[in-house]
Amino acid sequence: MAVLLSGRGSNFLALAAACGRGEVPAEIVLVLSNRAEAPGLQRARELGIPAQAIPSRGLSREEHEALLLQALRQVQAEWVCLAGYTRLLSAQFVAAFPRRILNIHPALLPAFPGLDAQRQAWEYGVKVTGCTVHLVDEGCDTGPIVLQRTVEVREEDTPETLSARILEQEHIAYPQALRWLLTRPWRVEGRRVVFLPVT
Ligand code: GRF
Repeated sequence: MAVLLSGRGSNFLALAAACGRGEVPAEIVLVLSNRAEAPGLQRARELGIPAQAIPSRGLSREEHEALLLQALRQVQAEWVCLAGYTRLLSAQFVAAFPRRILNIHPALLPAFPGLDAQRQAWEYGVKVTGCTVHLVDEGCDTGPIVLQRTVEVREEDTPETLSARILEQEHIAYPQALRWLLTRPWRVEGRRVVFLPVT
């Protein structure tokens, strides 16, 4: 699989660690970023995983995605995990990996899609929030949900302390969701990801 990221890459590291421990039967063959300065690229190189920046500046979405697809095809990636990747993917890109693109979002979707979801939830005053791993479609945080984990909001929380506790759950949820998808039979019924009994 390949990981697309734009920032620090802690979810990428959680996935890499889970693959290394054999908990997720996959290998990360490439890390791509739209931002050359993304710390996650450096983390990947330290682990010996090929990492490449493909900046989007000056390119149309189509041109940028064509470069991404070329890099993904070169390494024969079968799955794509978005881990803090800040760009929306087009329907054409999504169609190149049908139901094989995952994302993690730091809120309980469909609540609080988009940027700064932890702060959105905190400002709204919800008492429970969490994180969501979902299949990616061409919408913003709209694809079928694979797994969610909850986090209680405490009276004394700030957006920062809440984000930190959500992140701990993200690092559990992302490898677990991927493990389920790779090891259990499943299908999508309407919007629902349904895991089937093992026969
Ligand atoms: C995470 O909160 C993730 O849910 C969101 O972006 C953040 C990325 O963090 N999509 P990291 O780069 O994985 O540390």
